[in-house]
Amino acid sequence: MPSDSSRRPTSPSSPSTVPSPLSRLQNIANQMASPVSTTSFPAEAVPQAPEDPLFGLMRAYRADESPDKVDLGIGAYRDNTAKPWVLPVVKKADEILRNDPELNHEYLPIAGLASFTTKACELILGGASPAISEKRVTSVQTISGTGAVHLGALFLARFYKIHGANRTVYLSNPTWANHNQIFTNVGIPIATYPYFDKQTKGLDFEGMKKTLADAPERSIILLHACAHNPTGVDPTPEQWREIAGLMRAKKHFPFFDCAYQGFASGDLERDAAAIHYFVEQGFELVIAQSFAKNFGLYGERAGCFHFVASPSSDASEITTRVASQLAILQRSEISNPPIYGARIASTVLNDKALFAEWQENLRTMSGRIIDMRKALRARLEELGTPGTWNHITDQIGMFSFTGLSEAQVMKLREEFHVYMTKNGRISMAGLNTRNVDYFAKAVDKVVREAQ
Ligand SMILES: Cc1ncc(COP(=O)(O)O)c(C=O)c1O
Repeated sequence: MPSDSSRRPTSPSSPSTVPSPLSRLQNIANQMASPVSTTSFPAEAVPQAPEDPLFGLMRAYRADESPDKVDLGIGAYRDNTAKPWVLPVVKKADEILRNDPELNHEYLPIAGLASFTTKACELILGGASPAISEKRVTSVQTISGTGAVHLGALFLARFYKIHGANRTVYLSNPTWANHNQIFTNVGIPIATYPYFDKQTKGLDFEGMKKTLADAPERSIILLHACAHNPTGVDPTPEQWREIAGLMRAKKHFPFFDCAYQGFASGDLERDAAAIHYFVEQGFELVIAQSFAKNFGLYGERAGCFHFVASPSSDASEITTRVASQLAILQRSEISNPPIYGARIASTVLNDKALFAEWQENLRTMSGRIIDMRKALRARLEELGTPGTWNHITDQIGMFSFTGLSEAQVMKLREEFHVYMTKNGRISMAGLNTRNVDYFAKAVDKVVREAQ
């Protein structure tokens, strides 16, 4: 029942969502008097763009009032109670920063916070990497991993040309959707290489190799360093060696995107092993590095872009030239990067005890995800859900490509309030001991109905 006061007519001065008759009349009069639009941006020139599918999914999840709803779309870590997790080591670093009387909010240099970029470089290449001691690496702090991919793409669009034409970038099929937009925006042509084998739900290694072998020499090959998004399928160390051999033979240019170091296996070295191998092999390459997932610093936008030159007598001079151009690109794009996330990461990366604690936090996150993989596979196998489910535990990192069809995904959303992307990708971090049974039963039902 509405209260009495809610029925009382509102006075002209009181705030109200119901327009008064006078203001309605005024609106109508305004519309009638409106001149014909003279916009420079008619719909033919600026059509309504579709909503980003992932952000649309998040919105639909938030609007769902079911107590059973499950969010498997979000690419961010959740703890066992489905809540965001501020890493304990990040809380400590935050405390240290807040208590620092010297702390100010001055601009960073164009290339970012040196104490952060130096350690970020050591983290991704390994502290003992000859590339570092030989001064053939330059690092630029970026707006998280997206900014690093963008800066790399922009640099290649400007400077990696043959006879004035941009080289094509080969993206895995499928890949993180933003790769397509980022490279398209800077005018680099896009092609794809096969990656996911729908039959085995593993790597289509033969397809991948064939495309890399057939691609024109000196193509740009975008490689996910670990925990491939969206499939969770990574090449084995042996397969990485073959990929490197093939790329060397074709003089392809490696562009590593590393958004999940330490988050995939819980082991920082292991998750960077592919990059270490390519650098050891003497490739000239670039790396986009994100600290969003492994530090839980999603919104703080801490990331880094690295250029590594091949070993040669002029490697250090090449690196200096590249650094000078990166600085110009960065200046016109963002002037200088945001400081807070980089300070947090730097505080941890530069302190032995905090670094060790961070590794422990990484093992907590990756361990919980691995446990959820095991639990989901076990539940589906116990239920005898048609199909094979070993891929759930074979895949690694934040995401799993379940093999569910778009129709099954939509059914899960409509009947069970389970939210995942239409390609059947689930974020393992959205599962927990409270909802994994519910999710397995829902999957079992939609898979059986499709039989
Ligand atoms: C493959 C890949 N690259 C880059 C990113 C960039 O993320 P951010 O800009 O949040 O660091 C992501 C995030 O999901 C990703 O999955």
